[in-house]
Amino acid sequence: MVYSPLQAAAKYFKYYIHAANSKGHGTHSPFVFEFITKVLNDFNTYDAYQKVEPLRKQLKKDNRELTIQDFGAGSAATDSDKRTIASIARNAAKSKKFAQLLFRIVKYYQFTNILELGTSLGLTTAYLSLANTDGKIITIEGADEVADIAEQNFRQLNLNNIVLVRGNFDKTLATSLQKMPLIDFAFIDGNHRKEPTERYFNLLLPHLHNGSILVFDDIHWSAEMEAAWKNIVAHESVTCDIDLFYIGIVSFKKEFKEKRTFSVRF
Ligand SMILES: C[S@@+](CC[C@H](N)C(=O)[O-])C[C@H]1O[C@@H](n2cnc3c(N)ncnc32)[C@H](O)[C@@H]1O
Repeated sequence: MVYSPLQAAAKYFKYYIHAANSKGHGTHSPFVFEFITKVLNDFNTYDAYQKVEPLRKQLKKDNRELTIQDFGAGSAATDSDKRTIASIARNAAKSKKFAQLLFRIVKYYQFTNILELGTSLGLTTAYLSLANTDGKIITIEGADEVADIAEQNFRQLNLNNIVLVRGNFDKTLATSLQKMPLIDFAFIDGNHRKEPTERYFNLLLPHLHNGSILVFDDIHWSAEMEAAWKNIVAHESVTCDIDLFYIGIVSFKKEFKEKRTFSVRF
C-alpha cells in the first residue's frame, strides 16, 4: 500500500530533520563530500537541460490517450488503463530536478554502460543519453503505446545511443544484461514493490564493478519500498548508500573500510 499524503509528509519531515545539510560539511567521506559538492550542488545550466525541458513542456500539454498495461504497483495517481500523455508526463516521469541530477551523475563519473528500468515517455532516458553521447543506454518499458511515444521522443531529440527494449522486466532484464554484461549505472524506476525490486537488484549484482552506481526510485513511497531499500543497503556488497528521499543511491566501492549510510538534503 502506497503511503497516504499525510504519512508521506511525516516521512519527509523525518528525513529532512535527520538529513545532513546540503553543503556536505561533516560527512567524513571523501566520496560523499565530492558527490555533494561536485554533483549534487553543480548549478551549471547544461545544454541538455534546454533540449529536454521543452519536450517535457510539450508532453505535459499532449492530451492524446494511451492504453497502458498494469504491471502491479500502478501509479499513485490513477488505476485506469487509459491515461493521457499529459498525465504521464506530470505524474510518472521523474521531475526535472532529479532527472537533471541523474544526468550530472552519469556525466561526472563518465559512465558508459547505462540501464534504465521504466522508460515511460523517455524524459529521464533523454538526460542519460545526453550525459554521455558516446555511452550506450538500454531502457526497458512494458507498456507498448508508452514505448511508442518514447521512441518518437528519442527521434525528435536526435538521440542515437538508446536501445529501447519492450516487455516485462521479469523477462527482459536478464536478456538485456546479456547484451550489457557490465553495468556502470542503473536507474530502477518501475514495479515499485519489495520482491521485484530486490529481485532486480540481485540480478544486477553480478554485472556491477567497483565504481558502479545504482539508483532506486521512490524508496519511501510505501512500506514495501522502504523494506526493499533497507535490505538493499544491508547487502554485503553495498559499501555506501545515500538517501535523498525521492531516490536512493548505492555504491560498491571496496576502498570503504566499513559500510557508510548517508541521508542528505536535496
Ligand atoms: C515511473 S515510470 C518511469 C519514469 C521514467 N523513468 C522517467 O523518469 O521518465 C515507470 C514505468 O515502468 C513501467 N513498468 C512498471 N513495471 C514494469 C514491468 N514489470 N515491466 C516493464 N515495465 C514496467 C511502467 O509501464 C512505467 O512506464
